Amino acid sequence: MSSIQTNPVVRTVASTQSEMTEIILPNDTNTLGNLLGGRLMHFIDLTGAMAAYRHSRTNVVTAAMDHIDFVRPVHLGDLVTLKSSVNRAFSTSMEVGVKVWAENTRTGAIAHVASAYLVFVAIDNEGHRQQVPQLLPETPSEIRRYEDALRRREHREAESARRKEARLATTEKEHAANIEP
Ligand SMILES: CC(C)(COP(=O)(O)OP(=O)(O)OC[C@H]1O[C@@H](n2cnc3c(N)ncnc32)[C@H](O)[C@@H]1OP(=O)(O)O)[C@@H](O)C(=O)NCCC(=O)NCCS
Repeated sequence: MSSIQTNPVVRTVASTQSEMTEIILPNDTNTLGNLLGGRLMHFIDLTGAMAAYRHSRTNVVTAAMDHIDFVRPVHLGDLVTLKSSVNRAFSTSMEVGVKVWAENTRTGAIAHVASAYLVFVAIDNEGHRQQVPQLLPETPSEIRRYEDALRRREHREAESARRKEARLATTEKEHAANIEP
């Protein structure tokens, strides 16, 4: 019998929407006065987790973060706003989309600086994976993101299988090299 409990609840995308704004301080920047990529990834992880918490109403862990394009630098003193929502719920995992904008506080100019997709897995207090509610996409863009999320999941699974095969091949080669006389 599976140890994963079923969850009959259905939630809307709107109920998962989350937002965070941070002011970029000297501690967040590199020697050029631009926001550090790792710091931005931390903000993305946190904002993504907020949407996953709102959907699952349990503990979540980050299973994966897809590649991120940092499309323009964020400067010291800028306001960074991150918005997230769940794109699709699977069995125990959820794909969350996060979009990031930077605002120049002097001019008010706002620019898109990064986007990312993350996968979170729901975990109960004993550390067991937990089934999450299903997601109900309502608007045309929510439905598009819902459908795209399935394609991205298939792509992730194919990539993960490919990496596993490559790791096995390397281990076998190393093993063969070690036992050669
Ligand atoms: C994520 C984790 C819970 C997955 O556990 P697991 O026993 O490997 O689980 P499974 O392979 O059976 O997969 C469970 C679910 O996670 C998803 N998943 C697992 N690894 C994944 C990955 N690399 N990318 C995307 N989804 C992933 C599976 O698709 C599955 O989803 P579903 O239940 O909705 O179908 C486990 O690997 C873990 O605890 N990792 C560390 C998490 C962590 O500490 N994160 C902080 C970053 S340092």
